[in-house]
Amino acid sequence: MEYKIALLPGDGIGPEIVDQAVKVLRAIGKKFNHTFEFTEAATGAAAIDRTGDPFPPETLKVCMESDAVLFGAIGDPKYDNDPKARVRPEQGLLAMRKQLGLYANIRPVNTFESLIHKSPLRRDLVQGADFVVVRELTGGIYFGEPRGRSEDQNTAYDTSIYTRKEVERIVKLGFEYAGKRRKKLTVVDKANVLATSRLWRETVQEMSPGFPDIEVDFMFVDNAAMQIIQWPGKFDVMVTENMFGDILSDEASVITGSLGLLPSASVGLHTSVFEPIHGSYPQAAGRDIANPLATVLSAAMLLEIGLNLVPEAEAVREVVNLSLSEGVVTEDITEGKSYKTSEVGDWLAARL
Ligand code: IPM
Ligand code: MG
Repeated sequence: MEYKIALLPGDGIGPEIVDQAVKVLRAIGKKFNHTFEFTEAATGAAAIDRTGDPFPPETLKVCMESDAVLFGAIGDPKYDNDPKARVRPEQGLLAMRKQLGLYANIRPVNTFESLIHKSPLRRDLVQGADFVVVRELTGGIYFGEPRGRSEDQNTAYDTSIYTRKEVERIVKLGFEYAGKRRKKLTVVDKANVLATSRLWRETVQEMSPGFPDIEVDFMFVDNAAMQIIQWPGKFDVMVTENMFGDILSDEASVITGSLGLLPSASVGLHTSVFEPIHGSYPQAAGRDIANPLATVLSAAMLLEIGLNLVPEAEAVREVVNLSLSEGVVTEDITEGKSYKTSEVGDWLAARL
């Protein structure tokens, strides 16, 4: 088969890690007889420098015309300490989510035996943890209007808004994921304080009889933040609103010690986007030291969820496991001999 894949390398280490995933995808294409046609497009600070826009219309067009999007990272330190910057790279990410209708972000959190010693948690707590955070991605306080400042500049406000429809579609996805896994759905909210959270709870309670084999529990977000650390093994699928999901998915990603290995998928109305969860790591940019495995595993999610190529995705995960067990990894995850970003990519492609 022939597939069109958009590449949005973005900023910092984005280009070099996306390169490695492309090597792996080409090798998969050879092995399984597929043709992947790659089209690169600009986003983030790199796009601002070129066009003034962190998610230019040409980039949207390339994404819309592709079967899946592989995304690197965006963010550049030159914008971080300038609260007055007119455009910021992160706006590109938000624009992409909105324009592609990516209402769900899916982040699997699982442990890798060889990296558990890197976890900030005790081994007995984190071993075997295996859950998925399903984060709503195009609603809530990230996009609600009105937002801004009063005329005298001394008051600022944001608005958190959810419609029943927005809640239903993301919660449905949560139920479906739980159905494919251990059949447990944890809905994280702040229903003791927020009206939006009460709408979430009401909606879940209405939908729950339609999924009789899924056990649902509700958890306040502050409690969830605690329980992720105290007892990560108890979660199966967690579904939550945009802002809570932003915070909890970062928390969840570090407890396993394998931040450099965790992929994510954003799915919705149009083309799905696959990206590593770590950021643009500007200090490492261009040095050929960044860990490409999260991006390679994002390519595996792209194959599975984006293109429905399940054995192909499995082959990618297997070769990543092989690189871990044989120690062909970058310096961040080994005390022994380490390999360059590009060497890891070459090794993975050659082993496929
Ligand atoms: C993420 C990031 C983004 C978010 C930022 C960069 C806008 O933290 O993808 O989780 O807050 O959604
Ligand atoms: Mg975040």
